[in-house]
Amino acid sequence: MSTPLNIGMIGYGFMGRAHSNAYRQVNQFFQREYRPVLKACCARKKDKIKAFAENWGYESYETDWRNLIARDDIDVIDVGSPNNTHKEIVLEAARAGKMILCEKPLAMNVAEAEEMCAAVEKAGVANMVWFNYRRVPAISLAKQVVDEGRVGKPFHYRATYLQDWTIATDVPQGGAALWRLDAAVAGSGVTGDLLAHSIDTAEWLNGPIARVTAATETFVKERTHAETGKVQPVGIDDACMFLAVFENGSMGTFESTRYARGRKNYNTFELNGDAGSVFFDLEDPQYLQYFKYADPASGQKIESHLTGWQKIHVTNPEHPYMDAWWVPGCTIGYEHTFINALADFLESLETKKPVQPDFKSGLRTQKVCEAVLDSAKTGKWVEIK
Ligand SMILES: NC(=O)c1ccc[n+]([C@@H]2O[C@H](COP(=O)([O-])OP(=O)(O)OC[C@H]3O[C@@H](n4cnc5c(N)ncnc54)[C@H](O)[C@@H]3O)[C@@H](O)[C@H]2O)c1
Repeated sequence: MSTPLNIGMIGYGFMGRAHSNAYRQVNQFFQREYRPVLKACCARKKDKIKAFAENWGYESYETDWRNLIARDDIDVIDVGSPNNTHKEIVLEAARAGKMILCEKPLAMNVAEAEEMCAAVEKAGVANMVWFNYRRVPAISLAKQVVDEGRVGKPFHYRATYLQDWTIATDVPQGGAALWRLDAAVAGSGVTGDLLAHSIDTAEWLNGPIARVTAATETFVKERTHAETGKVQPVGIDDACMFLAVFENGSMGTFESTRYARGRKNYNTFELNGDAGSVFFDLEDPQYLQYFKYADPASGQKIESHLTGWQKIHVTNPEHPYMDAWWVPGCTIGYEHTFINALADFLESLETKKPVQPDFKSGLRTQKVCEAVLDSAKTGKWVEIK
């Protein structure tokens, strides 16, 4: 026996595909009471959304998300459309009593995110933000290693999120996929798009960030807008660097850009403590690197001739999520992080324990992003409240 969960997916782009794949596969790998049903998908262009529905096996499609939300046969609204659409969709979906899964960044700014949080809390509906990197088994293992005390007292957190796809000056801003370069649609540049992931991971592993100071740069000042055809000023941050002090007293550096020639999705972090360190690189995602200096239980130091970084191949059934997948040594990939996230969401419906990261957690990340952007304007340290 299983309980159907009727999905209404908004957007057929990058995330529309990643999420649809997760809905189709989750019950094949994870034993869950709830079973997602691809009830309807939605986007504005009829021919495109019809083709998407046929390709992925959705029972129906809509061209206006309001109609999707108004349908009685939809249980979950999944927001996979650009950032400037998130708030309106979420407020309407919450009013209609739907469960809501929303892509990151939760909103364009803190004010919007607060409204969205209040709306889901008032409606009492299940909610999650798709910070899927928490569900990379190696990153979940890093969390386990930190929680087991194996890093010890933390001193440094170092994150990078580097890409190189906007270096050419003739990349337009606006329109399909390139909406990320249009501040009116994206809200910000790499800060909301890439650093939001780094911040979510950092706070999950190392606790809240207390204050930040930042610098941003926009290397290409004007670009042709794909929708207007006019050359318009670029309002996003192409690159962002910030320093952070965590509430636990450790220091952080964060760097993100879309101008790091050769870097495609170079999302890394390293956490250094007195007992050990962890390092992760998304371009080598099946590994967690761990340096053990001392045993967390006894405090006894490892004999120095035996110390060294361990490159842990995170594919054993004892590793997070991996008992649902293949035999040891066989890796999983990017798309599985969404399946793992969905499995956690479905489990939360059974256990009635809110899944993380929820909207409140998404709001927290939004606050750090906004503090970073404020600091880049003023040059001052900004406290996160
Ligand atoms: N979790 C992640 O790692 C991750 C990765 C990529 C994108 N994202 C987030 O997912 C969201 C979507 O990004 P994407 O890369 O899939 O974008 P995309 O451009 O590939 O797709 C966006 C989709 O939204 C649809 N859309 C736009 N306006 C709409 C409207 N008013 N009503 C209905 N549909 C509309 C478009 O038709 C398109 O299908 C963004 O918030 C982005 O930040 C998250």
